[in-house]
Amino acid sequence: MSEHYEAATLDDLPPGSHRVVQVNNRDIGLFNIDGEIYALPSVCPHQFGPLCSGCVTGTFAKDASTHWQLEWREEGEIVTCPWHGLEFRIKTGQCLAFPRIKIRTYPTTVENGIVKITL
Ligand code: FES
Repeated sequence: MSEHYEAATLDDLPPGSHRVVQVNNRDIGLFNIDGEIYALPSVCPHQFGPLCSGCVTGTFAKDASTHWQLEWREEGEIVTCPWHGLEFRIKTGQCLAFPRIKIRTYPTTVENGIVKITL
């Protein structure tokens, strides 16, 4: 059964910031990307490192649209695990290096300046 929890205030999570909070005995990473709030478990699937306390950056990618030249993309949308560097898309939980690995995301809402997540 899903339950809703107050996780932070919007004032504590301005656009471009992230933080780890504890909700119902779980470490949860909260990320504000352009005013939208995303929530991920702060547990890396590799060796259970504190994923969401890592840096938030972008990533290099190349494809036919860049004529196979590396291009910096997704600035502010990638979190890097501080233990061994696996990168994950914050919006989807997708691991960049291993397409079969995807961590869950938690639904979020903001009501009266309070960020709520559903576990
Ligand atoms: S524990 Fe996260 S990359 Fe190893």
